[in-house]
Amino acid sequence: MKKIISGIQPSGILHIGNYFGAIKQFINFQEENDCLFFVADYHALTSSTDSDTLRKNTRDVVLDYLALGVDPKKANIFIQSHIPLHTELMWILSNLTPMSLLERGHSFKDKSARGISSNTGLFTYPVLMAADILMYDVDMVPVGKDQKQHLEMTRDIATKFNEKYTEIFKLPEPMIVESTAVVPGIDGAKMSKSYGNTIDMFAPKKILKKQVMSIVTDSTPLEDPKDPDNNITTLYKLFATPEKLEEMKEKFRVGNYGYGHAKKELLEAILEHFAEARAKREELVANPEYVDKILAEGAEKARAIAKIKMIQVKKAVGLM
Ligand code: ADP
Ligand code: TRP
Repeated sequence: MKKIISGIQPSGILHIGNYFGAIKQFINFQEENDCLFFVADYHALTSSTDSDTLRKNTRDVVLDYLALGVDPKKANIFIQSHIPLHTELMWILSNLTPMSLLERGHSFKDKSARGISSNTGLFTYPVLMAADILMYDVDMVPVGKDQKQHLEMTRDIATKFNEKYTEIFKLPEPMIVESTAVVPGIDGAKMSKSYGNTIDMFAPKKILKKQVMSIVTDSTPLEDPKDPDNNITTLYKLFATPEKLEEMKEKFRVGNYGYGHAKKELLEAILEHFAEARAKREELVANPEYVDKILAEGAEKARAIAKIKMIQVKKAVGLM
């Protein structure tokens, strides 16, 4: 049994990239491990959203976790800001984090390059992430490939602390599932909320349909054979059996099979795959007290662990 933590930032409605890259792993891991899954609302403050949106997005991620099958009986589900000790640990770790380490951060560099003005929250984002992880002595952190660097930084920061003070932080391993490490979006680039190229499993059917129908294809005429490795089949692969996928690819090779047909098949596969989760999510929306109770219990359990860790940390650095 391993100890595992992971979190998702509530920066918008979740998409199938988040599902295959992250949540699906959460659900597999919860069966045989000691898991903590949280909603990183402090982190979401780094990209400016208004307060109502942040509140709604945070709640939505919790509902998405639960609807998709993260089970509060098997895993501990909580909201990051319910444990303010994360930010206290972050402050302590900041003093061991070289500027140069953070300057190399991909997400900071990317966001700056895209002209999103940087605040120090965005810059120090990886230190808060390190605090989230190191607080709980975890063995593994299941994430998508884009988070690999953050995990390396976490290990660096932990090593610095252990060397300077005492060995109190466990070095976590990233856990990246290669086959779904990067789910492409409707334009073929990495699916991401911030690129507006997502397919959202909990969107109303009409919107979901629009997203699938917007998958970028070329203009090969209907009758002609088409490249079977296109943006539609790459996504269909996530939902279809190998036989079904091969069937679709063969239809593309033969011709007389339009991209529109394939998109309809993909849409059906997505709706079928998430039918149960979509129904469950509606039940959860109608039952807010149940969700509140799960979050209160989750926070209580996490806080108990964090309190003990912070005493160790504060003693080690001389704050106690
Ligand atoms: P986004 O890029 O849409 O803002 P986040 O950065 O909030 O998504 O990612 C939340 C989790 O989902 C992370 O573990 C991340 O690695 C994973 N993830 C996000 N997008 C994808 C994708 N396209 N393919 C695979 N995993 C992804
Ligand atoms: N940075 C992660 C993301 O964008 C979210 C996150 C914050 C996280 N703290 C974490 C993930 C700790 C794993 C562990 O997806």
